[in-house]
Amino acid sequence: MAVNTRRVKSVEDSIRDTDEPEHRLKKNLSGLDLTVFGVGVIIGTGIFVLTGIVARDQAGPAVAISFVIAGIVCGLAAICYAEFASTVPVAGSAYTFSYATFGEFIAWIIGWDLVLELALGAATVSVGWSGYLNQLLDDIGTPLPSSIAGETATVNIPAILITLVMTGVLILGIKLSSRVTAIIVAIKLVVVLLVIGVGFFLTKAENYTPFVPPAQPAAAGEEGWLHTPLISVLTGFSPGTYGWGGVLAGAAIVFFAFIGFDIVATAAEETRDPKRDMPRGILGSLAICTLLYVMVSLVVVGMQNYTELSATAPLAGAFSANGWPVFASLISIGALAGLTSVVMILMLGQSRVLFAMSRDHLLPPGLAKVHPRYGTPYRITIVTGIVVALLAGFVPLTALAELVNIGTLFAFFLVSIGVWVLRRTRPDLHRSFRVPWVPVLPIVSALASLWLMSNLPTDTWLRFLVWMALGVGMYFVYGRRRSRMATGERMSAADNIARR
Ligand code: ALA
Repeated sequence: MAVNTRRVKSVEDSIRDTDEPEHRLKKNLSGLDLTVFGVGVIIGTGIFVLTGIVARDQAGPAVAISFVIAGIVCGLAAICYAEFASTVPVAGSAYTFSYATFGEFIAWIIGWDLVLELALGAATVSVGWSGYLNQLLDDIGTPLPSSIAGETATVNIPAILITLVMTGVLILGIKLSSRVTAIIVAIKLVVVLLVIGVGFFLTKAENYTPFVPPAQPAAAGEEGWLHTPLISVLTGFSPGTYGWGGVLAGAAIVFFAFIGFDIVATAAEETRDPKRDMPRGILGSLAICTLLYVMVSLVVVGMQNYTELSATAPLAGAFSANGWPVFASLISIGALAGLTSVVMILMLGQSRVLFAMSRDHLLPPGLAKVHPRYGTPYRITIVTGIVVALLAGFVPLTALAELVNIGTLFAFFLVSIGVWVLRRTRPDLHRSFRVPWVPVLPIVSALASLWLMSNLPTDTWLRFLVWMALGVGMYFVYGRRRSRMATGERMSAADNIARR
């Protein structure tokens, strides 16, 4: 027998594992559910907060172009995810795809990396949620003390609570989660459409000129090299504010607003007809959100001069500045609803990736048990919920938010290359969705992700490298010897029943 030194797990094995009784997830989701899921997780902090920060500090009114650029990078990656998810409809997304293409080590690395996108992302958004809640409570005259709510809290109680409530919803079932998401998505879409519809009539032509404000050099001593994009440190090019450099750096930041479409792929195993519905869910939700983002950002910079936009609540602030304060509260309610589903679905994605890793014994296999009644991976969901709650409640996360971007972009990079690799190693597989122009499109997609990564600050890169080095250590200490690919263990049905 040939020795599988890279420990590549065949697509057939991955699909077979999904049928083990103990690890079988309920297949409940339709294409529409997936699209709603996608919109539910994509629209969040990005559009409600980052639009203002990036317009004010980096891109000016051209923040809309930053959104278009980030949307194109995501679109390219989404096409690659769609092919993978329709070919390997197994929980775990980029982790599972990497196992089938690059082998176990890279799969572990990507699973470890996805913690940055999913768990850290969920914690970051929970902190944002707590901030919006407090703003609403402030509007009605009963704010919580800043020691227990908002960005500077010692213990962020609302952030912990929202995380734990959403963990409960996730345990009770994916169909319930998708119903909760549908209601929340409806609320946030109404708010976003209102912003666009009403805001359009409040725009002023003079706010659009200059559309791309002239580049200004960074003030001396203002930016240390650690806070400078890696690409500038490497090339010696000193970045300024605004200009096309600002638009590009802005794209790497607003990228956060698009994070989530890839999580649709983690629900592949719970989809009734993944080969047909996965591409629809991934590409459909991304297209809807890109369109909404570009329109919202154009309206907001037209309503208020970019230099005056609020850094914490730009949408609400622009309406207040135009004499529509009642809209500010409405937008806060939309943001609160919006962030709720983002937290929930990021945790859903995290639990599904960890579930797949435990099922492969790269993490303790007991964690991969599915609840006999609800059909959800309840143990790993509880662990995920607790970790996210602790992060959100006790760790100051603002400085770490860009780690979420770099972690996600790295996954995009590997998935893009992976599509090309799997085409070469397994041309025989049935692919109901095929990326066009292989290998050009996957290579362009991988380079585009890498390029956005290089526009992130150097300290983010350093933190990312430290996290990944820890992951490499973990693999050699635990997963390498215990993985199912190493031990050759396959669970028989009898084993599974006996273990229940
Ligand atoms: N895309 C999500 C957001 O903007 C993560 O909150």
